[in-house]
This record gives sequence, C-alpha cells and structure tokens, in this order.
Amino acid sequence: MRGSSSICRAVRNHRIQRTFGTHVRHPPNQKELAGRVSAKETSTAWWRNAVIYEIAAISFQDSNGDGYGDLPGLLQRIDYLKWLGVGAVWLTPIYKSPDHDFGYDISDFCAVDPRYGTMEDFERVLHALHKDGIKLILDFVPNHTSDQHAWFQESRTSRDNPKADWYVWAEAAPNGGPPNNWLSRFGGSAWEWCEPRRQFYYHSFLTSQPDLNWRNEQVHQAMADTMRFWLDRGVDGFRVDASAVLIKDELLRDNPPDPEADDTTPPPQKYMPVFTDDRPEAMRCLEYVRGVLDEYDERLLCGEVQGKTDRIGHFYGNSKPRLHLPLNFALLDTQWNAIALQATIDAYFNAIPDGAWPDFVIGGHDKHRVATKLGEAQSRILAMLLMTIRGTPFLFAGDEIGSEQVKIPPDRVRDPFEKLVKGFGLNRDPERAPLRWHNTERGGFTTGEPWLPLSEDRSRNIEGQRCDARSLLNLYRELIALRRTEPCLLHGEYRPRRSHNDVFWFARALGKAEIVVALNLCREPRLWEWQGRGVTLISTYLDREPGKIEGPTHLRPNEGVIVRINQ
Ligand code: GLC
Repeated sequence: MRGSSSICRAVRNHRIQRTFGTHVRHPPNQKELAGRVSAKETSTAWWRNAVIYEIAAISFQDSNGDGYGDLPGLLQRIDYLKWLGVGAVWLTPIYKSPDHDFGYDISDFCAVDPRYGTMEDFERVLHALHKDGIKLILDFVPNHTSDQHAWFQESRTSRDNPKADWYVWAEAAPNGGPPNNWLSRFGGSAWEWCEPRRQFYYHSFLTSQPDLNWRNEQVHQAMADTMRFWLDRGVDGFRVDASAVLIKDELLRDNPPDPEADDTTPPPQKYMPVFTDDRPEAMRCLEYVRGVLDEYDERLLCGEVQGKTDRIGHFYGNSKPRLHLPLNFALLDTQWNAIALQATIDAYFNAIPDGAWPDFVIGGHDKHRVATKLGEAQSRILAMLLMTIRGTPFLFAGDEIGSEQVKIPPDRVRDPFEKLVKGFGLNRDPERAPLRWHNTERGGFTTGEPWLPLSEDRSRNIEGQRCDARSLLNLYRELIALRRTEPCLLHGEYRPRRSHNDVFWFARALGKAEIVVALNLCREPRLWEWQGRGVTLISTYLDREPGKIEGPTHLRPNEGVIVRINQ
C-alpha cells in the first residue's frame, strides 16, 4: 500500500529530520495535568473555532515580478482566503532581515523588510483581513536576532557596553576552544568567537543568528515592546518560534551523547540537548511573554514545540498560563493505519492538561509536505480528520490542494540547513516552493523568475481545483464550512470508538447531538462495523447525497464519511 510504505519512510525521515526536536525532558506532572484554563480562555475564544492557515509571504503571491512573494500580492489573494473559509492567517516573518534563514534572522523586529513591501502595505493587509473577519497572527522570534541587529552590533563591541549582556557570551575553554560541546541545529559548534570581546557567543541556529540572553531583564522589556508594537497595530497574536530553547543551562554543562544515534543521525543531533532545550526557566519566559499578550483582549499565543507528544503538556502552563496552543505535529509522525492513528490521537489527548484546548497541525515551513508522504487519496482522509477532530486545525498554504515536495536542483538550494548538513534529507525548500495558482509555467505566482522553482506537476493548482467540484480543495472548503456550522464539531467532546477493519472512527458529542466520523484508511473497500442510524453529511468522495444511513456500512477504498446520528 503506497500510503503505508511512504509513511514508514516518512517516519524514518522524521527521525532524522528531528531538527529542532528534543527527547522528553519534563513529562507533565500530575499537578500540571490538573490543568487550568485562564479566565480569558472561554469556549468562545476565536482561536478555538478558527482554521489557522500558515502563509509564507515569500511563496504566496508576487506583485512586482521580482520572483518573491510580497504583501501587496497577499492583499490580492484575500478573496481566496475568504472563499476557503479560514479564520486566521499566521504569517511567517516579514520583518527586516538579511534573509539567511527564511526571514527568521531578524535585524529589526519593528520594521517590514522592503522585499515584502512597506508598513502601509502591512496595514492594508491587516485591515483587509479584518474586514473579511479573518484574524492575523505573526511569527514572534524571541530566541535570537540577526547578527546585523543593532542590539548585537552594540553587544559585540566590548564587555561593558550597555547591551554587553543582551546575548549569551562565555569565556573560551582552557584550551582556547568553545566553552562546551553544545552544537548548533545547523551543524558545528554552537559557539562563535568574537575578537573584539575575546569571548564566544552562543547561537542555537546559524552563526548569524546569535541567541538573546533571556536571563537579562532588559531583554524581557525590549522583546515585550516589540510585541506591543504589533499588538497595538491590531495583530491578533503570535506564533512563538523555537519556544523551548529560550534559556540554556547556566553552568554550561555538556550535553550527553545520544546512545541511539547512528550513521543515519545528522551530526547536530548526535547529542541529547538536555542542557540547551526545555529548561524549566524557559517556561518562566513563556509565562512572561503570555503576560504581555494578556495585556490585550482576545489575542492568541501559539508556539513551536517539536518532538514527542508527551512533552507538550507543560507548554500550556500550570498556575500561570504559557501558550494557548503548543503546536501539535503528532499527525505528521504517526504511521498511517487505523490502529496507529487511534493510538497517536489518544496519546495526544492524554498528554494535554484537562481543560486545555487541543490543536492539530498537518504542515508547515519546516515539515515535508504531507501529500507526498500519504498520497492523494489519503490526503482526503486527512482533510476530513483534521476538520472533525476536536481542536484547532492548522494548514500550511498549499496543503489544501495537496501540494507535494518540489524537486529543487542543487544549484537552486536556498535552505541553510541543507547547505550545512548535507545528505540527510533535511532540505526545507521542497515544502517552501511558491504556490501554484494556475497551470501556467510560473503558476500565476510571478511574472519573473520565482525565487524557488514551482512544482513540475501543474495539475495541482488552485484555479483548476476550484473549478473541479470534487477536488481536494473543494473537499477542504466544504469541510471547513460544515465545521463552522456544526457546534458539535467545534465544541463537542471527543469520544473514541474501537477501530478495527482498517476503519478509524470516533464521535463528537455536544448535549444530545452526536456526529460520527468514519475513515477507511485502506485502499480497499472495508466494512465499517457500527450500529446505529443517521444521516450522511459528506463523504470524502464528495458524491454521496445527504441521506439516511444505517450501520454496518460499506466504505469505499480510502473513503471517509461524516454522519449525524438520529436522536
Ligand atoms: C524555527 C523556524 C525555522 C528556523 C528556526 C531558526 O524553528 O520554524 O524555520 O530555521 O526557527 O530561526
């Protein structure tokens, strides 16, 4: 079965692709599991109901023919977002940046990079989204800046300038080498020598991305001000980048070698990041960031948490709230069969505190495209699962048309990860390639030379799928619309059912209302062994008329159905 073998490969790849991930350090304790929900987190919070759609502006729509997507281009496409029915856009960094790492190397947190447009362009986008009832969240990158940032430029000059302590500086080891064995995610030592200070500075990622010192109160204040700068402009929240690594061990203790590492492990992952990631003090920083956000009403804080499910719980917070939504990538890591899937979902729901709101992410700018992992038919099942499971769905632009990994010729590679750690399948360019709007050569994305090649498969494009009533895109659209109008799907409790016969199924229940979702994960027909009566609302084939249904039911290959149970 294509799905199952490619997902196995994907799972293996994922292990090696555990770029920013870590092993479990702090499984949530019982106190944390008791979970608390902040007063502002009511069941009507907008982010519980919204589908959140990640856009990397650089790959969305170019307006001036320079081959780079930009804000005026995004503005032209807001109609599409409205048509699709997304409730919020998460925009990856559009800030001023030398762009060594997809804009995650920021040289001014409060300015728009000219490649993307101007602050006025940004305000136009924000205004137009809001006019259509769509929220906007921005990336917030608290862990590091670009080495071009004025703060670092000052910090690096001496040991006693006003910003001397704003970054993580340390003395050389007695042999003159780096202070300890910590490695950068992007390869090599995480320490870089700075001659003017005759000290090393720490960088979790590129040498041109020095880590800020979150033990310094002034850094807290400065970063809070950058948040307020955007919140005051009306931004609806942030996705916190690299949220687990804000604080590193004060004693600079060496990380231990990973006993499971072998020849397939990329060198930067050969040590377990015990003393660099997930330090308890990093959680205090998230609480601080959340405190700033909570100065404003109805804003969302979600954040990047890579790695295993059982470490996700403590990112929600304990007596003090941290993230509203620590991003959950578990669906990307599971094997694609009913038994594995039900276990993955169960483990996730068990790992989050009572009262915490779940979320499910099926793509992102650091993740291989799920359509390539699963195949076309299975992507439809995933769409149905994502839109019916309890929690906020996150999509990455292009997932709704089943965009696949794009082949990048070696001379066009842009991702520093691929350039620095070659041969481990870590390149993130294939998922970051520009979106195809049409079946033309440049896909309606640009009139110039696109910054990365577009997919060779021209058939997967937005206009084409809009016109095809049974396309994946139209399936997404219908599911999003159904989700919006069915309180059961938005707020209903998740009730697992025992999966067998390759059919994964579950119910969502709210008061007396109940909806069941049955997904045949196999490429052959299967009997869904259920007892009951209801009305079919939609099939992944988009060809069943709403009609009566009574169990047991035959499902076609890779078919999913949503049924409203008769009371
Ligand atoms: C985050 C981003 C990733 C980036 C890294 C360093 O993990 O998602 O794209 O490379 O931070 O900034």
